[in-house]
Amino acid sequence: MQPARALLAFCGLVLNATEVPSPDVCYQIFNSCVKPGFPKTIKTNDPGVLKAARHSIERFNNYTNDIFLFKESHISKALVQIVKGLKYMLNMEIGRTTCKKTKHPSLDNCEFQTNHTLKRTLSCYSEVWVIPWLQRFEVPILHCY
Ligand SMILES: *[C@@H]1O[C@H](CO)[C@@H](O)[C@H](O)[C@H]1NC(C)=O
Ligand SMILES: *[C@@H]1O[C@H](CO)[C@@H](O)[C@H](O)[C@H]1NC(C)=O
Repeated sequence: MQPARALLAFCGLVLNATEVPSPDVCYQIFNSCVKPGFPKTIKTNDPGVLKAARHSIERFNNYTNDIFLFKESHISKALVQIVKGLKYMLNMEIGRTTCKKTKHPSLDNCEFQTNHTLKRTLSCYSEVWVIPWLQRFEVPILHCY
C-alpha cells in the first residue's frame, strides 16, 4: 500500500537581531533556568509545547486545501532552545478531523475521523520560534509526510 504523501516546507522571516534583548535572559516560564545554546528535551505536555504544536497545525491548515481541518494527535518528541526567544522543535502526528474548514470551528471541539476512507494521519516535524516579549511566533519549518 502506497501512502499518500504531502511535503510542505515554509520559510519564515528572520528577525532583525537588534530588536531583541540579550539571549542571556533566564526564562521564568521554565521551572528551572534554561541556559541559551543547546536544544534541551522538554515534556511533550508542557504548555509551551502544546501552544507551539497548535501554531504549527494552524499553519498547516491554512496552507493546505483539504476540506477538513487537521489536528495534532500525538507529540512524540519536543526540544526547546533559547535563541532570541524560544525555538521549539517538535515531532508529532496529526490527523484529519471531522470539522470542515469552511465552518471555522475551534480545533478543541474537533474529533478525529473514524470513517475508514476519510481517516488520515501524517507525521510532522516543525520548528516554532516564539518571541514572548513581542508576542510573536513564526513557523519557519513544517514538514509533513
Ligand atoms: C494564511 O495563508 C495566507 C496566504 O495563503 C497568509 O496570507 C496568511 O497570513 C496565513 N495566515 C496564517 C494565520 O498563517
Ligand atoms: C465514509 O466516507 C465516505 C466518503 O465520504 C462515504 O462514502 C462513506 O459512506 C462513509 N462511510 C461510513 C461508514 O460512514
